[in-house]
Amino acid sequence: MTNPLETLGNSTLKVRRIGLGCMGMSEFYGGTRDETAHIKTLHEAIELGINHFDTADMYGSGHNEELLSRAFSDRWDKVIVATKFGVLRGKNGEWLGFSADPKYVKEACEKSLKRLGRETIDLYYQHRPDPNVPVEESVGAMKELVEEGKVRFIGLSEFSSEQIRAANAVHPIAALQTEYSLWTRNVEEEGILETCRELGIAFVAYSPLGRGFLTGAIPNRDALDAHDWRRENPRFSKEALTENARFVELISDIASNKNATEAQVALAWVLAQGENIFMIPGTRRIERLKENLVAWNVQFNAEELAEIRSRLPKETAGSRY
Ligand SMILES: NC(=O)c1ccc[n+]([C@@H]2O[C@H](COP(=O)([O-])OP(=O)(O)OC[C@H]3O[C@@H](n4cnc5c(N)ncnc54)[C@H](OP(=O)(O)O)[C@@H]3O)[C@@H](O)[C@H]2O)c1
Repeated sequence: MTNPLETLGNSTLKVRRIGLGCMGMSEFYGGTRDETAHIKTLHEAIELGINHFDTADMYGSGHNEELLSRAFSDRWDKVIVATKFGVLRGKNGEWLGFSADPKYVKEACEKSLKRLGRETIDLYYQHRPDPNVPVEESVGAMKELVEEGKVRFIGLSEFSSEQIRAANAVHPIAALQTEYSLWTRNVEEEGILETCRELGIAFVAYSPLGRGFLTGAIPNRDALDAHDWRRENPRFSKEALTENARFVELISDIASNKNATEAQVALAWVLAQGENIFMIPGTRRIERLKENLVAWNVQFNAEELAEIRSRLPKETAGSRY
């Protein structure tokens, strides 16, 4: 079976383990906003069986949610859309920090519902912890949104084990969304995967392709548009790209043994790390969407997984943000 439907953590949502991240359709990864093409990709994703779509209020400062609304207005019954609140942007997209005070949570939810053109959000994530608001208070406000019928299930993004436990004591958490891939494995060392497993929380891996790097498509900075956000990201500095090429060399080697592409190997490795792991690789292109779904056909046995781990570079050059 390929890309099976599974229950998403502490929820009744049935989603396929490979979903689609929609962020790049609005900003960050260069190119232009080609809505017609992106809506075609979104529709094709449904045809290919994908039913889990990930967005956030801050992607394109609202544009991404509106795009999904335009794409799905006549087919909401076929999709589960997750959105997020809590990362503040200014008028020109500048970063203004995080907010999760209860009043803000309620306002942000109303705005997302309006942009999506829906009465309920399937899965609502707090995008980042707010250092000034205890998680009990922000999740308390999200719990009220559930009671009011505005949100079905609650998620968190980039929270520590301690914060996850505190949140889950207020209301069952369906999913934790955090970066996880061959070059970003902090969640293993920090006990986060373990906490999710113990509490029945689904782990939703974001940037499983290392923001495109692990596919081998970004050998140097010339592969990035002048306005691509990755140009500002420490992992994509000239030096870091050179150093991190060791990851791509390893992945290419595995890919040729498995008769697969680098992207498929990168995704298959994440899927192989546990049954409670879901993922939302991002792409704007139908051919890549199809390629990425074939990750299901790439299987690793325990010996192969151990060998990959032993060959992985211990450090990744450049911080994640
Ligand atoms: N919670 C959070 O804080 C957070 C942070 C970041 C992302 N996210 C979510 O996670 C989703 C996925 O993460 P991401 O988009 O950052 O990174 P990703 O999935 O690791 O990589 C996406 C990049 O890889 C390229 N790509 C996709 N498939 C490819 C293939 N087969 N071959 C070569 N290149 C390929 C895409 O380009 P094209 O589009 O041109 O194909 C895009 O530039 C986002 O869309 C967003 O919904 C959440």
